[in-house]
Amino acid sequence: MSIHCATAVAHPNIAFIKYWGNRENTLRLPSNGSISMNLAGLFTRTTVQFDPSLESDQVILNGTTPPYPTIQRITSFLDIVREMAGKQTPARVVSENNFPTGAGIASSASAFAALGLAASQAAGLKVTEPQLSALARRGSGSACRSIPGGFTEWLTGSGDRDSFAVTIASADHWKLYDCIAILEVDHKPVGSTQGHSLAATSILQSARVADAPRRLDICRHAILTKNFENLAEIAEQDSNLMHAVMMTSSPPLFYWAPTSLNIIKNVPTWRKENLPVFYTLDAGSNVHLICPEPYQDQVIKRLMDIPNVQNVLIAPPGGPASLAQG
Ligand code: DP6
Repeated sequence: MSIHCATAVAHPNIAFIKYWGNRENTLRLPSNGSISMNLAGLFTRTTVQFDPSLESDQVILNGTTPPYPTIQRITSFLDIVREMAGKQTPARVVSENNFPTGAGIASSASAFAALGLAASQAAGLKVTEPQLSALARRGSGSACRSIPGGFTEWLTGSGDRDSFAVTIASADHWKLYDCIAILEVDHKPVGSTQGHSLAATSILQSARVADAPRRLDICRHAILTKNFENLAEIAEQDSNLMHAVMMTSSPPLFYWAPTSLNIIKNVPTWRKENLPVFYTLDAGSNVHLICPEPYQDQVIKRLMDIPNVQNVLIAPPGGPASLAQG
């Protein structure tokens, strides 16, 4: 392997306490801290090669050239890496997800975590895990949580250098499963970057942000003590709070599909029937149902019985972003 080329692999993550809104958009400094779990089995694999014979950056995502705004976002991110390394060489980026694209699973977290690790390694930079996490954050906020392994917390920090994610519990600490209900929907949702910039237009956002330290404490403690009931309660509340902000921003954002609400309404009933499970939704209609081992098969079965659930993907906690063979 030439030192100008590197390949990295990173998992997406699911947030139990959500990131929604920035206090500074360009640097992606979040309005509140967040906590998530990396998703094993799902990953983005990215190779970066700096090549002086190229005129500009070349990008291939899942076998094809992506739309221009995507290339621009990647080039802007590579510019940060180039500036850190004091070089101007264009790069060839080849990236693939092993999960279906267009299925509505956020891939920007795994994408910018893998790109950040591969690009910094290919550029010859020596970076610590927190530095790498802060770098990935510049590409996509949630990507900073996919650099460390297991259950991670993104610390808001005071600026660019100390706004990064750390592991709060390793992947083998607690065998939770994320059962992702993929729904049949035909519209493309408003992307999270646009959504973050609307958050402050909701009068509910300041209350949501002010209360975030309380929710983070409860969530962190529930993870460390493996208290599923407390985790379930705080994660559902946090997801509902974020969606309340989304629905009350100007313009309002409605991510739930009728089937999302159908599942949300079923989950408390399932819990009363002694099936430990909770729901959380990101900027899309897919519903993530979290349960401890060995309940995943029961959760999948109940989900598949709901009309319009197309497929269920399943993921236990995943490790950190890592370098791989090209
Ligand atoms: C709803 O990290 O995708 O999934 O920084 O603009 O790329 P950008 O936003 P992104 O936002 C994630 C929003 C969320 C909640 C979360 O994962 O915390």
